[in-house]
Parts: sequence; C-alpha cells; structure tokens
Amino acid sequence: MAAIHVLNGPNLNLLGTREPGIYGSLTLGDVERMVRERAAGSGTGIVFRQSNHEGELVSWIHEAGAAGAGIVLNAGAYTHTSVALRDAIAGAGALCVEVHLSNVHAREHFRHTSLIAPVCVGVICGFGAQSYLLGLDALLPILAARKT
Ligand code: DQA
Repeated sequence: MAAIHVLNGPNLNLLGTREPGIYGSLTLGDVERMVRERAAGSGTGIVFRQSNHEGELVSWIHEAGAAGAGIVLNAGAYTHTSVALRDAIAGAGALCVEVHLSNVHAREHFRHTSLIAPVCVGVICGFGAQSYLLGLDALLPILAARKT
C-alpha cells in the first residue's frame, strides 16, 4: 500500500508551547511518534511533514496524489482561508482526511468554515493528538479497499 502522508500546516511546529490550554502539551514530534506507532504493523509507511508555507503544502499534496497516497491533513489556519489547498486536494485526486486537534466548532466563528472539507473524505476535530490517529484509522481501510 502507498504511504500515508501526514501533512501539517502553519504554526503546528509550535505545538507543546503554543496555547497549551487549546492544543495541549504534546509536541509535533510526539504526534509523529504516535502516528508511526499506530501505523506500525499496517504495512503502510508514513511521510510526516510540517510547513508554514502554503505553496509548499500545495506541492506536497500534489506529490501525495501522484503517489496514490492518502493524506491526513491538519492545514491549521489555511483550513479557513486557502482556496489553493482546496484546489490542490481536488486536482491531485488524493484521498484526504481533514483533522484538527481542537474542536474548531466550539471556537471563534471564523474557524467554523473549512474551505477544504468539501473535497475531503471526512473531518475529525476536537480529540487532540487522537484526531490524527482517528484520521489514520479512517483512511487505512479505504486505501486497502481501493487497492483490491
Ligand atoms: C487547528 C485549528 C485551526 O483553526 C488553527 O488555525 C490551527 C490549529 C487545530 O489543529 O486545532 O492552527 O488546525
């Protein structure tokens, strides 16, 4: 099975110290370790990346799509603003799950809108680092079924 690309957007490199009351105290490195542990044994490799730059995220989505890989995407604030990310997901034909650590619907109004949700297979938010694991769990059987 193709690897799953776990892509992280702006400011997620600050996890651990960034607004811990909202995002918790785990670092992005901790999240990566948890994702790799969960994927171990599934036969699926993990590509885990973070960028503060929209265009770099666009290129990584294209890369995942070309490889036939699934994507677990925490696009951070670009979730709410980026037509470019939405078009990248749609254009690359990549199976993508949108994830967030926080429950964006319980927060400011501007976080209630996701420009990428309509081109994702589903959305998971509010479970802290577990959101990533739930995203992975959701993708694995769909990717396995696609392969057969
Ligand atoms: C976030 C939620 C976004 O609204 C915010 O801009 C982030 C993190 C989350 O994981 O909860 O950067 O994506």
